[in-house]
Amino acid sequence: MSDAASGEVSVLFVCLGNICRSPSAEGVFRQLAAEQGLLDSLHIDSCGTGNWHIGKSPDERATAAAARRGIDISDLRARQFRAEDLDHFDYVLVMDRSNLADVREVWHQNGGTEPRLFLDYGHSRLAEVPDPYYGGEDGFEHVLDLIHDARSGLLDEIRGRLA
Ligand code: 4NP
Repeated sequence: MSDAASGEVSVLFVCLGNICRSPSAEGVFRQLAAEQGLLDSLHIDSCGTGNWHIGKSPDERATAAAARRGIDISDLRARQFRAEDLDHFDYVLVMDRSNLADVREVWHQNGGTEPRLFLDYGHSRLAEVPDPYYGGEDGFEHVLDLIHDARSGLLDEIRGRLA
C-alpha cells in the first residue's frame, strides 16, 4: 500500500511467466517515471502467476525489443506472484484475462488490492496484451506498443494520488 511516510505509490505488473510482458511493462513504466522525475515516488515491480521461470532473465526477444526502444530490462529476474503482493501494492495490473482470473481467485480469498487489466488505462480496442511467447518478433513489438499506449494513463492517475 502507498507508504504515507515516503509518499511512495507501488505498482505491480503481472503476466504468466514474468519473462515477456510484465518485465517489458516494468521497464517501459520505469523509464517513463525516470523521464518525469518520479522514480523516487514509485515502487515498480513485476511477477508471473506461473513458476517455470523463477530467477530467470527476461526472454531475449523481449530484451532485444526493449533495447531497440532504449530500455534495458536485462537485469530483471522473474519471480512468482504471491498473495501478500495484494497487501503491499497499490496497483496490481495484469496483462490478460487469464492472469486476471488467476489473481482474482487469490484476491477473493486474501482481499487487498483488486487486480485490473493494465490496458484499461490505454486507448486501444484491445483489452489484453497478447502472450507473445510462442510467436515471432512482431509479437514483442506489439506488446511494447500496447504497453506504451497505456503507460501515460496510468501515470496520470498516479500523479493524482501523489499530489
Ligand atoms: P509472459 O510470456 O507471460 O508474457 O512472460 C510467457 C512466458 C513463458 C510462458 C508463457 C508465457 N511459458 O509457457 O513458459
